[in-house]
Amino acid sequence: MDRRTFLGVVGAGALAPAGLTAFERAMYQEARRHGLRLPQTVSAEGVTLTARPARVNLGPGAVDAYAINGSVPSPTLRIRQGETARIDLVNELPEPTILHWHGLAVPQEADGHPRLAIGPGETYSYEFPALNRAGTYWYHPHPHHRTAAQTYMGMGGLLILEDDEEDAYGLPSGEYELPLILQDKRIDGELDLTYDFTMRHDMMHGLLGNAAFANGTRDATTAVDRTRYRLRILNGSNARILNLGLSNGAAMTLIGGDGGLIAAPVGVERILLGPAERADVVVDFSGARPGERIMLRSFTFDVPGGMGMGMGMRGGRGGRGGGRGGRGGGMMMGGGELQGQSEMDFLEFVVQDTRPEPGRPLPQRFAPVPERGEPSGDIPRQSFRFTSSMMGPDGPMHAINGLQFEMLRVDARIRRMQSEVWTFVNDSELPHPVHAHAGQLRPLSRTGGRGRLMPWETGLKDTVLVMPGESVDVMARFFYEGLYLLHCHNLEHEDMDMMINFEVV
Ligand code: C2O
Ligand code: CU
Ligand code: CU
Repeated sequence: MDRRTFLGVVGAGALAPAGLTAFERAMYQEARRHGLRLPQTVSAEGVTLTARPARVNLGPGAVDAYAINGSVPSPTLRIRQGETARIDLVNELPEPTILHWHGLAVPQEADGHPRLAIGPGETYSYEFPALNRAGTYWYHPHPHHRTAAQTYMGMGGLLILEDDEEDAYGLPSGEYELPLILQDKRIDGELDLTYDFTMRHDMMHGLLGNAAFANGTRDATTAVDRTRYRLRILNGSNARILNLGLSNGAAMTLIGGDGGLIAAPVGVERILLGPAERADVVVDFSGARPGERIMLRSFTFDVPGGMGMGMGMRGGRGGRGGGRGGRGGGMMMGGGELQGQSEMDFLEFVVQDTRPEPGRPLPQRFAPVPERGEPSGDIPRQSFRFTSSMMGPDGPMHAINGLQFEMLRVDARIRRMQSEVWTFVNDSELPHPVHAHAGQLRPLSRTGGRGRLMPWETGLKDTVLVMPGESVDVMARFFYEGLYLLHCHNLEHEDMDMMINFEVV
């Protein structure tokens, strides 16, 4: 059976073969997975992106979504360093929107700040040079108070930046390079992307779903040859932190993160990725048996110092919601789903009999990661304290240095091309994936909690997961002047105004 027929069978229609008992039929349905789709790839050097409501197929059936060019996820954009992106956003949604180029250093008018949102029927034209290093970036909507909803409803895609430095390593490419947007959705019976966000529990934790999607396909599967693959993984979830690993216990080789390659490939069993973080990994299937099925899984994990079931209690988690949440995760227990509580299978790899010529071995080292300046004694420092409270005037409240977002207020300043140490302090019982616009940061150290930088934090980063009780120092230095955002990338927290403006002057 060739790869295509095989996929056809796995992704076949909802009907189970005849002659099964009811139990077998249920097992069959349960085991049924849907073929992974890769969004169309288009050049960013001249493209129109039209945002419009559309009915799209997410695997088990069609659903109403917000699509870009008819597709969920949005098309994958590609560009080379030094080239100029020219992108027109056409808004055919019934509400304002704007797109943000997550992780890219772009002039302020191209950054997708919510003050730049356009109404229905309007067009926004972006033009910016690709300055970043090669890497996996993201574009997603960023309108005021609607970022979470529009992202959840299907908008957002990858932007893959290439450069000569990375090309020289001959990393797996073409069909051996899989861009993967991993997201959870909350499904209650029918598949439905209606964004319903009113429960107090969600307002604390963000929307934690119970169904796993890869590139917009629920319970996805894909055939793989017995060779090495490069997986460009984005955690595109609204709020869910993923603790990624392979179900067969094999290590993955981590090669990069948010802002491109790390200094050297390193084997890892688990990668803990907050919303908006990326991991670039190489997975080697050459030792796997033909027919073997290997899951890319998010494993359970603990949030040290995090909020337990009886919300507001520090420490003890008051019982785990049944440990393994089972396939697709998320039993809604008592107070609701908590971070790390459920296991979720995002993508199944089905190993084929084919063993292509092995490509170039991975190099021992990559180029050194660019610095953002030296942390000398008299370097300017600023700190940003992330707090969450159950007791705001309108219920749960999330703030940075006690501030909540106001569209044009300037909350912090940094001089253009001045290196500063920024400290992100999590003074709450919830995890906060902290994200800065305007360019890539260089993490320096973590104190409290895990007490060290993780392997995927050793390169350039635009989003850093700060667990309860942790502080992370990063080196910041920005190229463009203008008004940019610093916010929590738990999208519910962000839309509840855990966001401030900083001005590069
Ligand atoms: Cu991924 Cu302010 O954004
Ligand atoms: Cu961003
Ligand atoms: Cu947060």
